Amino acid sequence: MLLFHLALPALLLLRSAAARPAHAKGPLGPPHPRVPHVETPSEEVPVTSRNGTQLPPYTYSYVFEQLIDHNNPSLGTFRQRYWHTYEFYEPGGPIILMTPGEVDASGYTAYLTNSTINGRIAQELNGATVVLEHRFFGNSNPYQDLSVKSLGVLTVQQAVDDLAYFAQNVNLPMPGGDQLAPGKAPWILVGGSYGGALVSYAMSNKPDVFYAGYASSAVVQAIIDFWGYFEPIRQSMPANCSADIEAVIAHVDSVLASNDNTQINALKSTFGLQGLSHNDDFAAALQQNLFAWQDMQPDSGPGGGFYEFCDALEVKNGVSAGASGWGLDNALQAWGNYWKSTYYQQICGDDDVETCLGTYDATNPFWSYDYLDNADRSWQWLLCNEFGFYFDGAPSAQPTITSRAVTPSYGERQCGYRFPGAFPGNTTTSVVEVPNARGLNVAYQGWETTTPRLIFANGINDPWREATVAADGSPNTGSDMQPHLLSDGFHCSDMLIREGAASAKVKSVQDTAVTYMQEWFAQWTPSS
Ligand SMILES: *[C@@H]1O[C@H](CO)[C@@H](O)[C@H](O)[C@H]1NC(C)=O
Ligand SMILES: *[C@@H]1O[C@H](CO)[C@@H](O)[C@H](O)[C@H]1NC(C)=O
Ligand SMILES: *[C@@H]1O[C@H](CO)[C@@H](O)[C@H](O)[C@H]1NC(C)=O
Ligand SMILES: *[C@@H]1O[C@H](CO)[C@@H](O)[C@H](O)[C@H]1NC(C)=O
Repeated sequence: MLLFHLALPALLLLRSAAARPAHAKGPLGPPHPRVPHVETPSEEVPVTSRNGTQLPPYTYSYVFEQLIDHNNPSLGTFRQRYWHTYEFYEPGGPIILMTPGEVDASGYTAYLTNSTINGRIAQELNGATVVLEHRFFGNSNPYQDLSVKSLGVLTVQQAVDDLAYFAQNVNLPMPGGDQLAPGKAPWILVGGSYGGALVSYAMSNKPDVFYAGYASSAVVQAIIDFWGYFEPIRQSMPANCSADIEAVIAHVDSVLASNDNTQINALKSTFGLQGLSHNDDFAAALQQNLFAWQDMQPDSGPGGGFYEFCDALEVKNGVSAGASGWGLDNALQAWGNYWKSTYYQQICGDDDVETCLGTYDATNPFWSYDYLDNADRSWQWLLCNEFGFYFDGAPSAQPTITSRAVTPSYGERQCGYRFPGAFPGNTTTSVVEVPNARGLNVAYQGWETTTPRLIFANGINDPWREATVAADGSPNTGSDMQPHLLSDGFHCSDMLIREGAASAKVKSVQDTAVTYMQEWFAQWTPSS
């Protein structure tokens, strides 16, 4: 077994070690829509195949020579990392492939195992599992930096092409591993969040490669003006807390609109944020409290960050408010005190307020650092070019729990700082646009996709739900060939078997999905 530990990992380590500068701090941004991290199983526990052969640990990484540019194969290949196991495989079984999306994938090898839906499907269908690192994340880099020039080959279509080229060309490290190309073996794509969107995109773009798919919390619809992120939060959070937040935000927006600097500074001081010179930075800072919602799962239990925040607003002298909250005056003071006594220190530590929450210093070297394995920069590139997903206030006809002083141009301006010269932009407003957002929704049909043998699983409490087929505004309700399964879970809850143990509805989504997979798998026939 020691054979498996030779050579490759050392080479891989060398590649990413390109000295990372002690980088300047940049502002705290909004969260990524990423799949939940699951603890990697211990390397001490042996992995064995069905016939008792000992297999490499789940954490053992392999390398695939991937095309740098699928539009120009003459540019050669780069080393794309993947992880693999065939503990449940039996001849004739499917290959279950997932990219965890915008992360260093080495922390996501639990997605090979039956603690996730991937491994559960493998176990039921006698399949093998693969986790493939996304280009420009972790150690899978076409070029040695993340400059605008290098990022030219970081597109959604290149990522889709990577999945297909991998399936068609990989020689999997297992018996008969060169006889498992699509057509000889059924390939099932699995993914969550952005990786879930890639499942839908790849299946519609490469119908001959991927036979079936499972897309969890898949953010398939590019949306520039993404106020909808806060809608599931507003709808699901305690009524008193949302009522009080709405009251405070309405007050904040009316003060900011007054242009009365004395009043505006007094308002910022209530939160200890008088050091923030730009009003939209102040308004965006108040979104931070809501982002804690994304970390919740059915098994989170009480006492998480989001509830700490609501308790700060709603519990007064040991008594909690009724459904309509305590009202503006109490809520404003309580929210402000929470920032001053606890929250600022939690999110900013010892940083001064402009460093932590200000976004207007275009000269901060943070924006232009282009060292490898900087997941935030690679992800921002995809947002700026293809998805948008700018978190802002709701339109005026809608209730809002975030300030309307934040608009898409707040995010677009930062794209200009990060990637100077990369976008057409508008020289008058210095605001850049999201060049491919509309094209993306046309190319892969967004939430209108009709791709068959594709399961969409969503959680009603997922803040990303409004970019999925389960959005309030999605016209697509699914079919027997494209089941839309909805649970009471959060972001990608249904990918984790432990969340099925915490929620009967999540478990039912998982069981139903496995049943569909069994049915479709039984209908698969090899092509010659
Ligand atoms: C067990 O499986 C491995 C790999 O599938 C194969 O090489 C080996 O011959 C098998 N051994 C037995 C005893 O079936
Ligand atoms: C999951 O797989 C492990 C082997 O990796 C096995 O011991 C365990 O019983 C499986 N769990 C279930 C619920 O089947
Ligand atoms: C009021 O807020 C408290 C504290 O966050 C919460 O536990 C309770 O469920 C809320 N009640 C209502 C009716 O919204
Ligand atoms: C740039 O922005 C200004 C102000 O919003 C607008 O009037 C103009 O049409 C824009 N130009 C382009 C090329 O989009």
